[in-house]
Amino acid sequence: MKGPIGIFDSGYGGLTVLKSIQDLMLEYDCLYLGDNARAPYGTRSFEVINQYTLEAVEYLFSKNCPLIILACNTSSAKALRNIQQTVLPKKFPDKKVLGVIRPTTEEIGNYSKSGYIGIMGTAGTVVSNSYPIEIAKFFPNVHVVQQSCPMWVPLVENNSFNEEGGQYYIQKYIAELLEKEPRIDTIVLACTHYPLLKSSIEKYLPIGVNLFDQGNLIAQKLIDYLKKHSDTDQQILKNGNVEILTTEASDKFDGHLNLFYDTKNKSRTVQII
Ligand code: DGL
Repeated sequence: MKGPIGIFDSGYGGLTVLKSIQDLMLEYDCLYLGDNARAPYGTRSFEVINQYTLEAVEYLFSKNCPLIILACNTSSAKALRNIQQTVLPKKFPDKKVLGVIRPTTEEIGNYSKSGYIGIMGTAGTVVSNSYPIEIAKFFPNVHVVQQSCPMWVPLVENNSFNEEGGQYYIQKYIAELLEKEPRIDTIVLACTHYPLLKSSIEKYLPIGVNLFDQGNLIAQKLIDYLKKHSDTDQQILKNGNVEILTTEASDKFDGHLNLFYDTKNKSRTVQII
């Protein structure tokens, strides 16, 4: 049976990826799931992130998604490998799950002239070392420096990043990263929530340091993937429908929706376990 592309995030952040996918792949049906009731994921243990992500993936499969994008860097770092290598072959051999780290690391070395790249992500993403490990495979001469930004997701989830305290934490983590390595000329926003902070972050960046946000690249790579995997492409509904699900109260979710994504869509609350 055909179904939509599943797009999963721990909360609101993946809406930045949904938006890019919709911009470039207008006719593709999408089913977004934000696990807001259990967000943030970034500070949780490996086992818990694995379990939560798997529950979300199984839920989206039960809604007939033939392909799921883990739009959450933390889930991509901690749960994707287990799902791809263990769960899919055993339980869902015809389904696909893709993450957001590989598409970024395949390309990011081409964006830096100095050869020094900064990764800003959640504690979970940073501790996993997924970015340095993956970038080294494609760009062995590039130096990667990481910075975890534990306050940034709560600032986005609570819409308080424009307040004085919010700005303090935005400036603080950038300063800490660039103190570790002043030669950084490219910074990856390695968390789907962070593009919302982009204009604030840019205020505190020295001239010559560029920000890289993943949404557009992920959509582009998805198009390439579906060209190569026409069997999966044929299983995706293409009526341009988008549905947004959250595990939290939908009115709370809808209050944030337009911050991320200019849409008239409303979310619906679901229980995934
Ligand atoms: N959106 C998630 C990511 O891209 C992080 C948010 C969270 O900590 O739940 O890593």
